[in-house]
Amino acid sequence: MSVPVLTIDGPSGAGKGTVSRAVAKKLGWNYLDSGSIYRSLAIASIKQNADLDSPSEVVKVAESLHLEFECGDELIVKLEGEDITSQLGSEQTGSVASKIAAIPEVRLVLLQKQKDFKQFPGLVADGRDMGTVVFPDAKYKVYLTASAGERAERRYKQLIEKGIDVNLQKIREEIEERDRRDSERETAPLAMAADAFYIDSSDLTLDAVIQEVLNLVR
Ligand code: DC
Repeated sequence: MSVPVLTIDGPSGAGKGTVSRAVAKKLGWNYLDSGSIYRSLAIASIKQNADLDSPSEVVKVAESLHLEFECGDELIVKLEGEDITSQLGSEQTGSVASKIAAIPEVRLVLLQKQKDFKQFPGLVADGRDMGTVVFPDAKYKVYLTASAGERAERRYKQLIEKGIDVNLQKIREEIEERDRRDSERETAPLAMAADAFYIDSSDLTLDAVIQEVLNLVR
């Protein structure tokens, strides 16, 4: 019997992480947050002073990337044994991740690390190319999106709640810039798989989205 895979792709800030974690928990399946792998590589590259404009230097860091994931209520990520969870979410990490994710050789090195997550009883995989490149044979595929304005508002609220002083317009510009880079790159761009189920969460509650995804699998 093959391992069932549910892929959830979409742009940043669409709620993929929250939805994927909730669905994985309900189903009792494993969870792959592929963005956290690119984000961890960004952190490792900065720590090792790699030249981010040099594909071969970033590939070298990717080849020796040693990560551990602990999936509890929150995902904990360790790089060479050091807990880097609190650094993963920053705008700088996200933006460097998006930049180095455009390097085809980097994506190739990270491909197997992502495939290894496919284990019984099932896998929920969240990212940009889960349904198109990493798990093209997945049984269930979702493309989850929301308008750029709505995604910027959600991110703004999250940061303000954390006591971080931010500017809504600037966040929106960063989101649009990241969308553009992730969608226009040549290798594995953000795109909806032809056989994916499309959900626009702009006017949906989180619970409604989770329910829609669970209905698809059940
Ligand atoms: O989902 P995220 O915001 O944590 O992802 C961070 C960056 O990593 C994103 O801007 C592009 C890259 N990424 C990717 O290229 N492919 C994936 N499957 C997941 C993330």
